[in-house]
Amino acid sequence: MRILSGIQPSGTLHIGNYFGAMQKIVQAQEEGELYAFIASYHALTSVKNKDELKNNIFEVAANFLAIGMDPEKSTFWAQHDVKEVLELYWILSNSCSMGLLERAHSYKDKTSRGIGANHGLFSYPVLMAADILLYDSQIVPVGKDQIQHVEMTRDIATSFNHLYGDILTIPQSKVDEKVATVPGTDGAKMSKSYGNTINMFGSKKIIKKQVMGIVTDSKGLEDVKDYSTCNIYTLCKLFMNENELANLRDRYETPGEGYGHFKLTLLDQITQYFAPYATKREALLANPKQVQEALDFGAQKARKVAAAKMEIIRDAVGL
Ligand code: ADP
Ligand code: TRP
Repeated sequence: MRILSGIQPSGTLHIGNYFGAMQKIVQAQEEGELYAFIASYHALTSVKNKDELKNNIFEVAANFLAIGMDPEKSTFWAQHDVKEVLELYWILSNSCSMGLLERAHSYKDKTSRGIGANHGLFSYPVLMAADILLYDSQIVPVGKDQIQHVEMTRDIATSFNHLYGDILTIPQSKVDEKVATVPGTDGAKMSKSYGNTINMFGSKKIIKKQVMGIVTDSKGLEDVKDYSTCNIYTLCKLFMNENELANLRDRYETPGEGYGHFKLTLLDQITQYFAPYATKREALLANPKQVQEALDFGAQKARKVAAAKMEIIRDAVGL
């Protein structure tokens, strides 16, 4: 079974990215033949600064390698190193109606938040379809917000196959309902665009500040508190086992502690969870050549598959 997913290098990675996407991608190495890439072309829709983009690409690569991406076992590359994807993007544009793109939630969301509409943003789902279809992907693990994009990929592939024959593999999205949406410090979906994130890695001072900023109700030390509606508890669920959670629930229901204490418990959990990965990441950041070599190796493997598929597609359309 071929599994493919990508993540945009569009900013500092947060625990929503980790639990919603990166962890699932790395785990997929045990479930099938994994193709994972850094969606660098997609990031051009939001990152307009050269150094920032280069740095983000490197960071995502180092983070993935740190959390267990194995470049020997899987194919792991940067999107812009396999240019066949742009050729397929153009070919697929001709099997994609304007109406389909106009209905994309992510495009509507972004433009409604004042992000200038341009063609890159509008046609983003077609490039994503090319990513998926170029490698005959069967399963695409994504966060909930990306399901529609995979649905659009299926529509585009179906239209293409209708015209040219059974050439493209129709993929399926896979969402882990348990962690479908990780809440941010304000309770809304954690997202770098909302400024409510908790970083995966980085200085303890910054992560502490983010955790201490989690919004709660105003109950005091002596009040009994409701864990079921509390953001701190929801985030703790990502890190704790059932015994630890039962213990935390007791603490909510026993007067004497405040939200500050629960936040420190969460902070400890986050730090402990990511500590082994953080050590590995530091070593990679100190050795950028190793990171680049891993990406180059992955691009070579991906290019072979992409070139073979493009020959079939070119032939099918008459090029
Ligand atoms: P952001 O919302 O911070 O801009 P991206 O859109 O770059 O994040 O998302 C990268 C990946 O992480 C996607 O697969 C997305 O579904 C996943 N993801 C982002 N935020 C969350 C979240 N709060 N909960 C679960 N998954 C998330
Ligand atoms: N759009 C995805 C995101 O924002 C990233 C992405 C690009 C992707 N191409 C993909 C994900 C192909 C899965 C498959 O998270």
